[in-house]
Amino acid sequence: MEIQITLAEHNDIDPWMLLAEQVIPLFGPMPHFEAILGRKIAQKQAYCARIDTRNVTLIGGVLIGGSGRKHWIRWLAVSSEYRRRGVGRTLVEKAISAVPANSSIYVDTFVGGSAEADAANRFYQTCGFAPAEVWQVDDLLRQRYVRPPSVYV
Ligand SMILES: CC(C)(COP(=O)(O)OP(=O)(O)OC[C@H]1O[C@@H](n2cnc3c(N)ncnc32)[C@H](O)[C@@H]1OP(=O)(O)O)[C@@H](O)C(=O)NCCC(=O)NCCS
Repeated sequence: MEIQITLAEHNDIDPWMLLAEQVIPLFGPMPHFEAILGRKIAQKQAYCARIDTRNVTLIGGVLIGGSGRKHWIRWLAVSSEYRRRGVGRTLVEKAISAVPANSSIYVDTFVGGSAEADAANRFYQTCGFAPAEVWQVDDLLRQRYVRPPSVYV
């Protein structure tokens, strides 16, 4: 399977929203997500994955953010039927290559304990992220990961 990663464009919003619907049970409601996605596309901070040709359905996406020496993976998902085929890793590699080499990349993900949370934790560790603090705001509990600057690894 050949995975193609491209900057997302405006006409990717509809299929991306279908992908977002798939992960609502895991992520919870994502208010204003469509507007955020539109802004990220305009800022060239949204990458999507497809297989084989640009006409094939979007199968994954990543949103990045941050500035200076501190960047973030803000959102990442792969369509359930295409998981464990290297799509997520390829998206993260694109995110890493899109930020300055001297910056760290952070991501907040789920605290382990469920199959999905354990998958995300294993995934980020496989991609070179190390666990940092667990933080909590009200009912929201998250595990932070950090990937040090690629110039030092
Ligand atoms: C987490 C997620 C993005 C991974 O995407 P993916 O395309 O399946 O990941 P990859 O195929 O690139 O996996 C790379 C490596 O991560 C690890 N990994 C990925 N999924 C795993 C799982 N379910 N269990 C254990 N390890 C896993 C493995 O080491 C894997 O390598 P391998 O398949 O050669 O063993 C995907 O499962 C997903 O969209 N989950 C729902 C949304 C989510 O949790 N997003 C991240 C929250 S911030």
